[in-house]
Amino acid sequence: MNDFYAGRARARTNGASASSVSFLDKLDPAVAERLQFLGAFLREPARVGAFVPSSPALAQAMLHGCNLKDAKTVVEFGPGTGAFTRLILERIGKQTAFLALELDEKHARGLRQHFPRLNVYHDSAERIQKYLIQHRRSKADYIISGLPWANMAVKVQEHILDAVVASLAPDGMFTTFSYVHACWLPRARRFRERLEKYFAEVKTSRIVWRNVPPAFVFRCRSAAGHGVSG
Ligand SMILES: C[S@@+](CC[C@H](N)C(=O)[O-])C[C@H]1O[C@@H](n2cnc3c(N)ncnc32)[C@H](O)[C@@H]1O
Repeated sequence: MNDFYAGRARARTNGASASSVSFLDKLDPAVAERLQFLGAFLREPARVGAFVPSSPALAQAMLHGCNLKDAKTVVEFGPGTGAFTRLILERIGKQTAFLALELDEKHARGLRQHFPRLNVYHDSAERIQKYLIQHRRSKADYIISGLPWANMAVKVQEHILDAVVASLAPDGMFTTFSYVHACWLPRARRFRERLEKYFAEVKTSRIVWRNVPPAFVFRCRSAAGHGVSG
């Protein structure tokens, strides 16, 4: 059982009173996670950008080539219900500081409850520097993004990418994904062009078909970095 599900199970078995056990806690955990995600999508469709969480196959592709065990600092943007978070937590080392920035307040609260080792901040990815400083870190080794870029205003994309470039260690890696069906949209195409401007190396993964909808991953490094493929 993964952490998200274990957390819900604990809430049920730790003697919680009938009134404190929420509707979601009574459901199958996988169904509860999907409903929580769908709820966020219905509240803020553009900001969430998907109606189901990413699959374990996409999580694997997102972390391909990341040596999380030896990382000093890992940051996740837009963890949602934790589709990537739980795999990151399985792979980081004891010394790794793991921070996440999530704009949806309910998701931030849920993540705090289910992943006690994660430092979750209810704030925008643009403010990554503030939280690195709080953790006495100047740079992140990996920035792993679940943000819905194709739905974002150009200015917001640029502010976040500026913050990524300012926060990424010289040999660090920024990974993010795009849905296959959306990659022809003008905003998504401009985002791809912007990645090429911001990073010396932008590699694209194979399509991850076992995701709804199918997606692929961008792996970006500055000039000092070295590449991965797959
Ligand atoms: C497509 S969902 C991805 C969730 C999760 N990573 C997954 O793959 O299942 C996008 C998430 O990004 C969050 N988000 C959107 N804009 C954000 C921003 N500027 N800063 C931090 N989180 C943001 C949304 O609230 C949502 O949880």
